[in-house]
Amino acid sequence: MSEKVVDPSNLSIEDLLHEQRKFPPSKEFQSQANINDESIYELAAKDPETYWANWAKELKWSQPWSKVCEWTPPHAKWFLGGKLNASVNCLDRHVENGLGNKTAILWEGEPGDSRTLTYQQLLDEVSRFANGLRKLGIRKGDRIAVYMPMTPEAIIACLATARIGAVHSVVFGGFSAESLSDRIQDASAKLVITGDFGWRRGKKVLLKQAVDEAVVTCPTITNIVVLKRDQKITLADDQCYMVSGRDVWWHELVEGLDSVCEPEEMDSEDMLFTLYTSGTTGKPKGIVHTTGGYMTGVYATTKWVFDLKPDDVFWCTADVGWITGHSYIIYGPLSNAATIVVYEGAPDAPDKGRFWQIVEKYKVTIFYTAPTAIRAFMKWGESWPQKSDLSTLRLLGSVGEPINPEAWMWYHKYIGGEKIPIVDTWWQTETGAIMITPLPGLTTTKPGSATKSFPGISAEVLNEKGEKVEAGGGYVCITKPWPSMLRTIFNDDQRYVDTYWSKWNKETYFPGDGIKKDEEGYFWFLGRVDDVMNVAGHRIGTAEVESALVDHEVVAESAVVGKKHDIKGEAIVAFVIVKEGITPSEELLQELKQHVSKKIGPIARPEDILFTADLPKTRSGKIMRRLLRDVADGKALGDTTTLADPTVVESLRKKYEAIEE
Ligand code: PRX
Repeated sequence: MSEKVVDPSNLSIEDLLHEQRKFPPSKEFQSQANINDESIYELAAKDPETYWANWAKELKWSQPWSKVCEWTPPHAKWFLGGKLNASVNCLDRHVENGLGNKTAILWEGEPGDSRTLTYQQLLDEVSRFANGLRKLGIRKGDRIAVYMPMTPEAIIACLATARIGAVHSVVFGGFSAESLSDRIQDASAKLVITGDFGWRRGKKVLLKQAVDEAVVTCPTITNIVVLKRDQKITLADDQCYMVSGRDVWWHELVEGLDSVCEPEEMDSEDMLFTLYTSGTTGKPKGIVHTTGGYMTGVYATTKWVFDLKPDDVFWCTADVGWITGHSYIIYGPLSNAATIVVYEGAPDAPDKGRFWQIVEKYKVTIFYTAPTAIRAFMKWGESWPQKSDLSTLRLLGSVGEPINPEAWMWYHKYIGGEKIPIVDTWWQTETGAIMITPLPGLTTTKPGSATKSFPGISAEVLNEKGEKVEAGGGYVCITKPWPSMLRTIFNDDQRYVDTYWSKWNKETYFPGDGIKKDEEGYFWFLGRVDDVMNVAGHRIGTAEVESALVDHEVVAESAVVGKKHDIKGEAIVAFVIVKEGITPSEELLQELKQHVSKKIGPIARPEDILFTADLPKTRSGKIMRRLLRDVADGKALGDTTTLADPTVVESLRKKYEAIEE
């Protein structure tokens, strides 16, 4: 077990709860909402299996299940014996229902190019590409790495993979070649689907170049499919080199292929995808999601949490490289036949009004983003959203980290015009779908609180000993299995058991978040309680950054912590001991930041690095990260009595204050 950074049970409710504002749903919203009957909570809690089975029945199955749930703690199976295909549920059934001409994707590239795909067109493209994958020898169960720019093809790649029963492992395009390589190796992927480049703040991100570097150490890769991001732009060979026999252009692969592709019939428990996420050790975990339960969870939550209606235009601003993109760009909205907006680039390209121009242009009605983005918008000022017509918006969402009440209120006022509901949704890569959230037609919201469990989800607060906390601080836990839960960690079931099901007992899921429950039973998330940072809504393990640092030849030891940051929520601070004979310098500091960025990706680049001769350690040699966090946050130092040498931390603090000035 990793060292705890926060013990949330020490927090009294008074310490944290000063928020008094409440926002009940408006009568207009309530009356039209997909769910506005409070009794659903009780009904679902009484008989969760029937409740979830009713949701699953709204999907298309080629064979019904014979049993709803089999729970052999900590392993669950859902809808046993049922057969379905995720791409059929996202495409074919809508076309069969007469929605072929409905817009599925409204895509906007960063430079301003755009494309629209109807459900029929999306089905054709997916089928053609799925035939292409089959032509390359990809079969059911094979793993495919997807490392793509945010174009419709990123979605097509996932749905085509699902169509033929292969397993996608999407890797965020901002990750480095080495991170990509680690993930390909862990999953023994056969194929990489990538693009020659993608746009980010007016610059080309050279994806294929990174793939080439990555696959040098990936003997399982037989082919690389490359999307040409723009037919009018051809990169030079040193930026995108196609290796003959191994690399194939997407457009050449699909040329002349049939737009009909027989879907693979998948068992409910067949794997749909794996997605790597950071944990408390250096090695990322391949979270495994299966087909029937995952599809049920994302379908249900999209319909109720976002109150999705046929005419809505739904924009989730995440990248498909994260779970939010999987669940609320691809599988949740498309299984609900929604019209989605997909945007390739940065929110400030070419100017800070880009998101709002997109909302106006596509008449977005539901907008789902992260607190880190909201805090950036706040900093940029309300004049940017005020330049665009946001009157089509009817619901706002937040995800990825705790939203501070100030950011919530700004979102409510300047984006929502003080009229529309905000859903603050708590969940994880592991949970697959939203777990704790308001239901917009039912829940009175409080700024900063994710409110209550989704119907059918049993969340509670426990203290260190595993006792239930009725009101106060503790750890959030889930006490019953749910359909979209992770099934295991790819190739490492023991790690699955140890990480999530061993804190109290093997029937209780431990997500690793600190939480507090108020007298009205509302949940308030406090952040991670383990050595995982949340930087701009992205999970990064302290151990990952530490191992990237010690990989540099001059570094002897390092300790990494997250410090509070106004926009990113947390920023990375590294304390570094260099080897004998090395003199720390500004150049070395920059070189180390660059080294981490190259090893993991720019998202892991430390904000500050402090060279030090010592680290605060316990007498048994464990680094006391809690004290380093206090140093980084400029707080009074916590208990230092267990330190082997208490002077170390004080001198660190003085040094850190000096560089902060
Ligand atoms: O700490 C919680 C935080 O993000 C973690 C999950 O990260 P990831 O698997 O990358 O998924 C992010 C998108 C679902 C959680 O353990 N988190 C996510 N949403 C919230 C949140 N913390 C507070 N409030 C939220 N709404």
